[in-house]
Parts: sequence; structure tokens; C-alpha cells
Amino acid sequence: TMAMRRSTRSAYNYLRRCYSSECVPDRKVTILGAAGGIGQPLALLMKLNPLVSSLSLYDIAGTPGVAADCSHVNTRSQVVGYMGEEQLGKALEGSDIVIIPAGVPRKPGMTRDDLFNINAGIVKSLCTAIAKHCPNALVNMISNPVNSTVPIAAEVFKKAGTYDEKKLFGVTTLDVVRAKTFYAGKAKVPVQEVNVPVVGGHAGITILPLFSQAVPKSSSLSDNDIKALTKRTQDGGTEVVEAKAGKGSATLSMAYAGAFFADACLKGLNGVPDVVECSFVQSNITELPFFASKVKLGRNGVEEVLGLGSLSDFEQQGLESLKPELKASVEKGIKFAKDS
Ligand code: NAD
Ligand code: LMR
Repeated sequence: TMAMRRSTRSAYNYLRRCYSSECVPDRKVTILGAAGGIGQPLALLMKLNPLVSSLSLYDIAGTPGVAADCSHVNTRSQVVGYMGEEQLGKALEGSDIVIIPAGVPRKPGMTRDDLFNINAGIVKSLCTAIAKHCPNALVNMISNPVNSTVPIAAEVFKKAGTYDEKKLFGVTTLDVVRAKTFYAGKAKVPVQEVNVPVVGGHAGITILPLFSQAVPKSSSLSDNDIKALTKRTQDGGTEVVEAKAGKGSATLSMAYAGAFFADACLKGLNGVPDVVECSFVQSNITELPFFASKVKLGRNGVEEVLGLGSLSDFEQQGLESLKPELKASVEKGIKFAKDS
């Protein structure tokens, strides 16, 4: 009976521990580009996440201030700022997740691909450091053009011998966030109940929202409404770039989307079942090597890349017309990483 009582007590203690915040595993999240327009609000949102125990903020400038400021918020994580390349290794060491919003944003009149020349090099050098200092971390790539920066990261990791396709994610959550908001507004359904998968890539027509699979279903939307919602989702980034009129692109909604996606990754790592989010990942659901679709997240990152489900004729057409552009952007990234 003593043994029984002891085992009951230890089961009780285990349960108790697992329902208290102390038993949430330690998780280090690092943000590269943490002093930027996205980086700062993203740092704040990650500081508010109780699943994070250590928050590492890296940038080429400005991180001591952002880190000191953020560190005063009375939540779980310890915040440390790192500045300059000589501190990058320390910033990355032991990371479970690395979020990358480093690089230049668009100005009116530019496409995301116009950012390639500057951002490709930034992403390449940051990923080289990730391969060296935290090869097992999940990487959440925000830097544009995502359709090319994710393939660049994959090539860098392959060269370093650390590539694990389950651990590399292009963050397309903002497309989903927009599709949900615009759909809820048009269909007049409560936005907190809405879900809309967005597949393909993250630029212009490569962004393909699947409103035929949106929940809750709406019978009030015409084909023209769906066309307009699709176009608005595809042009959502440009809508913000134009409204900001030269002062950059989406930062607040992106920080929200980035924090939401990182939280889903953390839940997956911690073993929470059935965590499914759209992301741009290595994929064989189409003939393209990288593709955004619903992904099930687990203890090792991608647990399963889910298929597209049934598409309307309009979506099927959209899928066919996005493939050449997406293929070219992926190949451009791979070529850059191989040649440079
Ligand atoms: P920003 O210019 O405000 O901030 C970028 C930060 O990156 C700056 O603080 C800069 O110092 C830093 N940086 C530059 N080189 C670096 C390096 N080598 N190492 C570390 N940090 C470095 O730009 P932003 O508005 O925050 O946008 C950042 C990127 O995110 C852009 O490429 C933008 O296009 C992209 N973006 C992507 C999405 C998406 O949905 N995936 C959404 C919005 C923006
Ligand atoms: C977005 O979708 O808001 C980002 O990719 C930034 C941009 O350049 O549009």
C-alpha cells in the first residue's frame, strides 16, 4: 500500500506539474532583425507568449534598447539583446525556433522580387550562422521574397549538411490572416470563427486563397465577390505598401501573423495534437519543390504536408496560372545559393 500510495502521489504530482505553468518546457525563441518594423512588435508579442522561456533579440543595430524595453514586461521569458555579427552565434545558440524578419521592405511600385538582390545575401549569411550554431531549430522565414528566400535557406542548409525539410517554414500566415478578415467582412460572419486555407506562395498571383473551403460557409457570396476577395488577398501587401507611402510595408499585422505562427510551432514542439497552419514548405503535393498548403505541426516540425482538398474551377485555374511564376522564383533562389 505504501508503494501504491507513492505511485498515486507521483501520478498526482505529475499531473499537477503538468497543469501548472512550471512544467511548460523551456523554449528559446530568437528573432533576427528584431529592431526592425516587424521585429519590434514581434518581440513584444513573443514576450507575451507563456510558452517562451528565453527570448533572444538580434539585429545589426538597435537591439540593446529594444531588449531593455521588452525585458521590463512582467512575463515568463528572459530577454537578451545581441548586436552585430560577432554576437550572432551567442544569439542563436540553443534556439528552438528562429524567426527571420531581417531585410529591406518594399516601397510603392516595387514587387517583392525587387528585394531579392539585397535580401538574398542577408538570408544566406543568417542561415549559414543557423547551420553552425543551432542546426536543429525550426526556422520561420519572413524576409521577402519568401518564394525565393526559403529555397535559399534550404540550399544553405544542404551545403552545411544540416538540412531537415521538416524544420524550414516560409511564413504565409499574413495571407491567411487577411483572407479571414476580408471574408468575414464580406460574408458577414463572426471573424473569430472563420478559417480559410491559402496555398501556393507569397507574392501576387502565387497567393491562392481557397474560399471554396472557407468556414463558416456562406451562401451569399457571388462568383464576383469571390474574385474580388481573391484579388484583395493577393494585393493585401501592396494595399499596405501604398497606404504607408514609402515608409515600408506591413509590420503590425505581420508581427501578429508571425507571433501566431511561431505559437503554433511551439505548440507542435510541445506535443499539442492537431496543430494545423498553412505554410510554404518543401512539398510534393504539386510538381513544385516548395509550396504553401496546410501543414500539421508536431514535435519535429512538419509532421504532415496536407493536400489541397477539392478546388473550384476558379481556384483550379488560379493554381495552374501561379505555377510558372512560383517555379521561377524557387529556381532563382536555388541558383543564387548555388552560385554565390
Ligand atoms: P525594416 O527595415 O523595418 O526592418 C528590417 C530589420 O532587419 C532592420 O532592423 C535591419 O537592421 C535588420 N537587418 C538588416 N540586415 C540584417 C542582418 N544581416 N542581420 C540582422 N538584421 C538585419 O523592415 P520590416 O518592415 O521589418 O520588413 C522586414 C522584411 O519582412 C522585409 O523583407 C519585408 O518584405 C518582409 N515582410 C514579409 C512579410 C510576410 O508575409 N512574409 C510581411 C511583411 C514584411
Ligand atoms: C506583405 O504581404 O505584406 C509582405 O509580403 C510585405 C510586402 O511587401 O507586401
